[in-house]
Amino acid sequence: MSQTKPVYASFRSIGAYVPEKILSNADLETMVDTTDEWIVKRTGISKRHIAADDEYTSDMGAKASLLAIERSGLSADEIDLVLCATVTPDYFNMPSTACIISDKLGIKDVQAFDISAACSGFVYLLSVAKAFIESGMKKNVLIVGSEKFSSIVDYTDRTTCILFGDGAGAAVISATELEEEGFIDLHASADGSYADFLVTPAPGCINPVSQRVIDEGLNFVQMKGNETFKLAVKTLTKDVKEILAKNEINTDDIPHFIPHQANYRIIKAVGDALKMREEQVVVTVGKYGNTSAASIPMAINDIWESGRLQSGELMLLDTFGGGLTWASALLPFAGKSK
Ligand code: ACO
Repeated sequence: MSQTKPVYASFRSIGAYVPEKILSNADLETMVDTTDEWIVKRTGISKRHIAADDEYTSDMGAKASLLAIERSGLSADEIDLVLCATVTPDYFNMPSTACIISDKLGIKDVQAFDISAACSGFVYLLSVAKAFIESGMKKNVLIVGSEKFSSIVDYTDRTTCILFGDGAGAAVISATELEEEGFIDLHASADGSYADFLVTPAPGCINPVSQRVIDEGLNFVQMKGNETFKLAVKTLTKDVKEILAKNEINTDDIPHFIPHQANYRIIKAVGDALKMREEQVVVTVGKYGNTSAASIPMAINDIWESGRLQSGELMLLDTFGGGLTWASALLPFAGKSK
């Protein structure tokens, strides 16, 4: 009887897109009662990028994807699954943003769908891509985290508008027979009992579009910032400790710890709790703000483009977001160095 060789999911390439327009802390000072000093001290954020009025989540996702596909050495017609993680889709109901991205890339007759896991979306997609590839159903999966978060931010609410930015990141995940190129481990989880920590109340079947939705601003993101902060630090730290212990890897052996970029204080607290050296921890929140599902791939792209992420090096991803959802992943970068 012939035995099929096992296949592994491998992280082949990365790409990102950042919109041109910058919203600085100085700009925000003119919009709400805040100061550059408060924002930098409490969040580490100096600026964030904002998409143009006629620039959508699918446009940013398609631009990041083009780079990721080109850098993977594949052509678009070799992609056999397109997945997008977003909480700011082009349309809230249908069609999915993944379908629109596929069309913009000229990818035809290929399964495409979105997932909703807020800031954990990209790492959630890694788990979906892994399952499709390791079951033998797909070979080259395009995963995209893209957000036009500015479309759900209330720019009169100083507690949220200072945090978020727009952008996109994409990666190609491919089948390989080389175990050393494959993902080492991945853990994703959720707890819906904390759903009200981060919520956009409308539009949805609970609050369909109505005058009340507009009057009460229910279409904007609402966050229990302080409670979310504490839970984020606890969960992110616990998740990393567990995945490292399970795989008998020390924090010292991780060249690139890439946490979700929500707030520098969260990243610093987690890094310190794990006794990570500064050069191990990737920080991009200062220049991009929190870009939700795009935050981790944008950060990976930054270190790849600067030559800091080399072929074969280990990445530890760790994320936390609305749902509540959280996820961590341990995997080598299996693409080419820049
Ligand atoms: N400028 C000035 N003052 C402000 C601002 C502002 N922009 N925002 C809030 N304040 C005030 C508050 O009104 C409060 O004033 P008071 O003491 O008079 O009531 C004071 O500052 C302290 O407010 P806190 O909310 O306690 O401030 P905190 O230090 O917690 O920082 C922040 C707030 C930045 C939102 C923080 O809680 C945070 O980062 N939370 C976690 C965010 C997160 O991780 N989200 C998860 C991922 S997002 C996703 O999934 C989409």
